[in-house]
Amino acid sequence: MPDEIVSTLIEVNPRVLVDGTFGAGGHSRRLLAATADEAIVLIGLDRDPEVSKHHEQNPLDDSRLTLFVGSYEKTPKAMKAMEIDAIDGMVLDLGLSSDQLADRQRGFSFTHEDAPLDLRFDQETGHTAADWLAWSNEKEIADAIYRFGEERCSRRIAREVVARRRREAPVKTVGQMADVCRQCVPRSRNHDIHPATRTFQALRIVVNDELGALERTLQSAANWFRPGGRLAIISFHSLEDRMVKQVFRDDDRWTPLTKKPLRPTDEEVRNNPRSRSAKLRIAERNEMN
Ligand SMILES: C[S@@+](CC[C@H](N)C(=O)[O-])C[C@H]1O[C@@H](n2cnc3c(N)ncnc32)[C@H](O)[C@@H]1O
Repeated sequence: MPDEIVSTLIEVNPRVLVDGTFGAGGHSRRLLAATADEAIVLIGLDRDPEVSKHHEQNPLDDSRLTLFVGSYEKTPKAMKAMEIDAIDGMVLDLGLSSDQLADRQRGFSFTHEDAPLDLRFDQETGHTAADWLAWSNEKEIADAIYRFGEERCSRRIAREVVARRRREAPVKTVGQMADVCRQCVPRSRNHDIHPATRTFQALRIVVNDELGALERTLQSAANWFRPGGRLAIISFHSLEDRMVKQVFRDDDRWTPLTKKPLRPTDEEVRNNPRSRSAKLRIAERNEMN
C-alpha cells in the first residue's frame, strides 16, 4: 500500500504534503524519495513526543521536511507556522507504531506485564487507561470495550475490573489487565489472538480519543486542501473505516478514488502481520465548494 499512497500523492505535482502520522517516517521517506522537486514542502506531525526525540537522534536528513509534535487535527496550526495557505496531499496511517508497541514503559504491549497501564500516545496530556478504568462505571467500561474492541466478553471484563476495584485495588499494570482478560475471555480456537488484544485496543482508542480526532479531521480537512489535492487514510478499525468511507462518499467536497478499500498484498502481510486488517481509502478534493 505505501506504493499506492506515494503514487497518488506525487502524481498531482504537489507543492505541500502532510504526513499526519509520522511514526518512524516510512511514508515521509518514500514521498521524498519519489520526487526530486526541491521546492516541495513536507510537513510531518505525530502526537507522540517520543517520535520527535527519536527523529532528533536519527534525522531523516532532508531539508524539505519539517516535523511537528501534535495531532494531525492541528495541521492548520502547522500550516500557519510555515505560512502555508493550502496543501495538496495528506496521508494518515492510523493506530500504533512498532516502536510504541516495543516500548516497555507505555503499556501498549500486554507482553510487558510490569508496565503501567498507560496507553497514551502523548504521556504529557490526558489520563492513563488505569485512571480511566478506576473512575468509569461498569457500563461505561463494558460499552467501550464492546464498541472499540468488538469484544464479546466486554460485560464480563467490566464486571471483573469493578469487582477487583472493590475487593482489592484498581487495575494498575498491564499484567493485571491482561490477567482480567485471561480470566474472562475464552481462548480463541486456534490460539491466534491473545485474550487481551481487543480490550487493549479499546482502551487505547478511548484514552487517545482516536475516533474523535479522526471525525473532527474528516469534518474540516477539506478546508485545508487546494482543489485536486488528495487525502489517503489507512485505518485498522471498522469504525474508522466506516467514518472515512461515509465522508468520502457523502461530502460533496470529496470524490472517492477508491470505491472499495485497498488491502495489503499477501507479501505485505507476511512482512508485517500487523498490516492484516489495514484498509486504505483515497479521495480527491473537488474544484467546487
Ligand atoms: C501506524 S503508526 C505510523 C507509522 C508511519 N507511517 C511510519 O511509516 O513509520 C501511527 C502513528 O500515528 C501516531 N498518531 C496516532 N494518532 C495521532 C494523531 N491524532 N495525530 C498525530 N499522530 C497520531 C502514533 O503516535 C504513531 O506514531
